[in-house]
Amino acid sequence: MPHDRTDLQALRGLTRAQLHAHARRYYKTGGRTEPEVALVVYGDAQAVFKDYARTPGWFGRIIAPVLIWREASALRRLAGITGIPKLYRQLDARGVLIEYLPATPWPQAKPPEIAYERLDALVAAMHARGVAHCDLRAPSNMLVSDDGVPYIVDFVARVCRGRAWNLPWNWVFAQFVGADESALAKLRVRFAPSLATGADRALLAEQGLVERVARAIGERTREIVRFFVRSG
Ligand SMILES: Nc1ncnc2c1ncn2[C@@H]1O[C@H](COP(=O)(O)OP(=O)(O)OP(=O)(O)O)[C@@H](O)[C@H]1O
Ligand SMILES: [Mg+2]
Repeated sequence: MPHDRTDLQALRGLTRAQLHAHARRYYKTGGRTEPEVALVVYGDAQAVFKDYARTPGWFGRIIAPVLIWREASALRRLAGITGIPKLYRQLDARGVLIEYLPATPWPQAKPPEIAYERLDALVAAMHARGVAHCDLRAPSNMLVSDDGVPYIVDFVARVCRGRAWNLPWNWVFAQFVGADESALAKLRVRFAPSLATGADRALLAEQGLVERVARAIGERTREIVRFFVRSG
């Protein structure tokens, strides 16, 4: 390998087949409505490859490009925030290559208290850029390093803030910001009860109507997609 080309530059230029050939492990092996998520290692460089190319049928052809677009556009909008993986490359409509985060999913880690404070700040920075994550209820979408630095992954469900004039949309956006915040409250209640405040518990008890409706729609949509995928 020429000396002026780093392993990371080379990794970023690999084809899809080469990326799979260099997969050290799969966090997810894919399914009828799921991507493959691989840790790719090339020399000293590492990256994560999220790929729907082997997701079969209409889900792979039609839905997957929408999900990959949602993920890539959110990562571009959040570029530069510590705790959000860098987008290395969008291969095509069905795959993205992103920065590997040296961290453990929240449920398997024992994050120190400071990690919860930093996570609040990270989520606030994400909202300030105009992105609501909308899937922070899945604690596997948050990672934490050994020294307590939090990270957020998986932006396929994100909702972005609209233009200033778009008041109805921005009201919707504000509801999803609230949903992210109550997901953090839930995380504290579940994994760090000593940090959970009375307000956290109250927030969970009286979750906004909009949030409940949004969640119900999300769950219904997933069931409907699964039904059609199974019978399709
Ligand atoms: N950039 C990254 N660095 C390290 N690990 C990652 C990264 N991105 C994803 N992972 C790991 O892969 C898992 C799945 O990734 P992701 O959440 O993006 O896919 P998903 O299809 O939504 O999976 P799931 O349904 O499990 O949430 C994460 O929970 C995390 O453990
Ligand atoms: Mg996920």
